[in-house]
Amino acid sequence: MKVCVIGAGAMGCIIGALLHESGHEVTLVDVWKEHVESINREGLRLTGVGGDRIVWVEARENVDRLPIQDLVLIMVKSPYTLQAVRSALPIIGQDTMVLTLQNGLGNGDIIASVVGPQSVIVGVTSHGGTVLGPGAVRHAGAGETVIAEYSGKMSERVGKLAEALTSAGIETRAAHNVEELIWSKLLVNVGINALTAILSIRNGELSALEPGRELVAMAVSEAVEVARAKGITLEGDPLERCLTVAQSTAENISSMLQDVIARRPTEVDVINGAIVREGERLGIPTPVNRALLKMIKVIELTYARRLR
Ligand code: PAF
Repeated sequence: MKVCVIGAGAMGCIIGALLHESGHEVTLVDVWKEHVESINREGLRLTGVGGDRIVWVEARENVDRLPIQDLVLIMVKSPYTLQAVRSALPIIGQDTMVLTLQNGLGNGDIIASVVGPQSVIVGVTSHGGTVLGPGAVRHAGAGETVIAEYSGKMSERVGKLAEALTSAGIETRAAHNVEELIWSKLLVNVGINALTAILSIRNGELSALEPGRELVAMAVSEAVEVARAKGITLEGDPLERCLTVAQSTAENISSMLQDVIARRPTEVDVINGAIVREGERLGIPTPVNRALLKMIKVIELTYARRLR
């Protein structure tokens, strides 16, 4: 497959590198010039899960002169989804699958509004990764990836794509219950991301420490209430799932903490913010998620003046 990954952050690089290693024609696209130049000059230095190695995958700053792709993977942070998918339009043809494995609520809707719902495949992944510097990424934890047609229908192409991802080492299952899928991952991010970012700790600390687990439970239980009120059936125990992911990505610096460390806008609006908004709509109080949202907002607004 011709695969273009828009957004060569940790997860974009990891998935792109694994697909490249399994024989697909992969291009990574990112606006971070230094990162792109480093990947092209020295290869992508991948460490962690799967062993330390150099992957000679091509990187670019834009999609100029790339042919129409079989798969376009949108992996930018949620605040940049619209911009990213618009920039990818020249390489999206009638048969191109546009897949999002981003965190948060609403990315599939944004992508569908630009390319049309028929092209969109949504998914979630429990892999964790960290950008160590230009051209260097650590694959901190592996987990299941689940993908589904945005339309919710079962399709042959989703099955085939799941097979291609699985044989590349990204264990993937095809599903059709999109909302449930997105919400069960959302609840993981609700429990882990803002807390690790505010507390400046790795994912594993949350599940290892009793007060950490209690905080996770407070945030997740509100989100479960909201999901239930929306009529979303969540498989298994969402709190347990969240703690299991925190444990399996114990060494990971969550994506929100990585954003805070790099003083970038975070995805809090589409994670805890989404719970607050949906809660308001349904008349369900979400004080814990509101507090997490506001704390992250204050952190973002004081990047230039922070004491640490
Ligand atoms: O956003 C993240 O960091 C990841 O989704 C996860 C699974 C919480 C691992 O760090």
